[in-house]
Amino acid sequence: MRYFTSVDDIGPLDVAVKEALEVKRDRFAYSHLGRNKTLMMIFFNSSLRTRLSTQKAAMNLGMNVIVLDVNNGAWKLETERGVIMDGDCPEHLLEAVPVMGCYCDIIGVRSFARFESKHDDYNEKILNQFIKYSGRPVFSMEAATGHPLQAFADLITIEEHKTKERPKVVLTWAPHPRALPQAVPNSFAQWMNAAGYDFVITHPEGYELAPEFVGDAKVIYDQDEALRGADFVYAKNWSAFADPNYGQILSKDRAWTITSEKMALTDNAYFMHCLPVRRNMIVSDDVIESDRSLVIPEAANREISAEVVLKRLLESL
Ligand code: CP
Repeated sequence: MRYFTSVDDIGPLDVAVKEALEVKRDRFAYSHLGRNKTLMMIFFNSSLRTRLSTQKAAMNLGMNVIVLDVNNGAWKLETERGVIMDGDCPEHLLEAVPVMGCYCDIIGVRSFARFESKHDDYNEKILNQFIKYSGRPVFSMEAATGHPLQAFADLITIEEHKTKERPKVVLTWAPHPRALPQAVPNSFAQWMNAAGYDFVITHPEGYELAPEFVGDAKVIYDQDEALRGADFVYAKNWSAFADPNYGQILSKDRAWTITSEKMALTDNAYFMHCLPVRRNMIVSDDVIESDRSLVIPEAANREISAEVVLKRLLESL
């Protein structure tokens, strides 16, 4: 595996999950693979889990790690080609990326949707420049349209907790005060479809995700109906994808917040969220604190998903 940006890069999911569970049983078994190899983690946006779990995974594999917060201590980067650089950006991404590639063996990139251009966001303009110009294997640490490390960790968590071969998994929109990208729900949908679960997406009208991510999922606009019989409830906010409202908030309706009354509609479902989460907007205190909440195991599995991805990238060197 040379790149990791979507479910398409990881191969059969049953093999990937089996490998993840093996890594989880002995996370230092491959510590020889990363000896004298350097991971560079580039953050254009904030992070807690991705930063810590990916660094920990790299350390498990024996790698050296460099972390760069682009917005804190580096030159401000111009990303548009052809611009007369007489503004406040002293360096262009087209030089910065190959320079970064000189100092490492593998690069991870976090670069969220900017909501300035749907075309640029959905063509992964920043991530793809790293793929094109760094000369190194590149993986997404959440890009404009996807967060595959999160979705892989979510899949591992569901596989560890499911009691049926084909559980009912419901992805539900929930309210939030800020406009958030579609990356997490896109990837979650992509991976749940690939896993072959009974997968349902529920959201208010106007919040339809891109068809290539929705795939064969059932879309139900009535949240209560969608939640009935669910085994796993995955809550997440996202902004509108469809034109002309791309990147906009259409609703903050707190009737969509996941509460114990909502969870009572399910088949004693587990609650899931990628974190960070806005309590009592996305989910009530009692649900996230309940013994059916998987938010901490999901976060713990971020180390495992990152380790499998880094292991495979190291094996490709
Ligand atoms: N879930 C997740 O990616 O968390 P961070 O944004 O803190 O990395």
